[in-house]
Amino acid sequence: MKKLARSMFARMGYEVRKTSRESRPPAPTASPPMSRYAHLIELFSKRAPRRMIEIGVWRGDRSVQFLKKGVKLKRYVGFDLFDDLSEDIAQQEKMGFCNMSRLEEVEPRLLGARHGDSPTVELMAGPTERTLPEFAEANGPEFDFIYIDGGHSLETIRNDWTYSEKLLAPDGLVVFDDYYPNEAGRGAKPLVDELLQDDRFEIRFFPMIEDIIDNLQITMVAVSRRDGR
Ligand SMILES: C[S@@+](CC[C@H](N)C(=O)[O-])C[C@H]1O[C@@H](n2cnc3c(N)ncnc32)[C@H](O)[C@@H]1O
Repeated sequence: MKKLARSMFARMGYEVRKTSRESRPPAPTASPPMSRYAHLIELFSKRAPRRMIEIGVWRGDRSVQFLKKGVKLKRYVGFDLFDDLSEDIAQQEKMGFCNMSRLEEVEPRLLGARHGDSPTVELMAGPTERTLPEFAEANGPEFDFIYIDGGHSLETIRNDWTYSEKLLAPDGLVVFDDYYPNEAGRGAKPLVDELLQDDRFEIRFFPMIEDIIDNLQITMVAVSRRDGR
């Protein structure tokens, strides 16, 4: 089964390493084959999850794609500060160009992106430091796809991973955005680098690194349990 999964990922151009300790982000390429977002959606489509969480919805740009491509999706849950994203919090969470989005505008956009009445769309407004513990208390490890793209402070990313791990189905996948290969103490890198040392998890870097502002490089990382699918 593992062999089959490996060859499936390899066909997608997805980097597969046998042991997490050997995993390293790929060297930057001059012309990436596709954007990390396109790769995320391709990966999502291939896995065809039934229940998913998106941490950091913003205007719903990615959510709409998940909802359109999620052929088996029965439940979508999105977490965001929405109207509570003040300038101070945006600075604290290192939000860059992401400004406040309104729940009352995002919700109808997401509901309209579905095919008919499925999946259910639940939006949890507020800081994930509060909303995720409450949600994890009421829900089991049933989510097979979790996309972590919320606050960028180290504390928030750690909190988001802590509760994602609790909510993740045994064979599920967590994808982190904001892994900065050339910035040791920023974004998801410190946490993901810790997970690389943890034998319980398999870590796969997306096969592209993109250059963003101020010579900063970015990629995404997929994390799954070794004893899962
Ligand atoms: C990068 S944007 C998300 C982009 C979205 N996933 C997409 O691909 O279009 C980050 C979002 O995280 C939210 N956010 C930041 N800190 C948060 C926190 N502590 N709790 C909940 N949401 C937070 C912001 O309000 C913002 O909308």
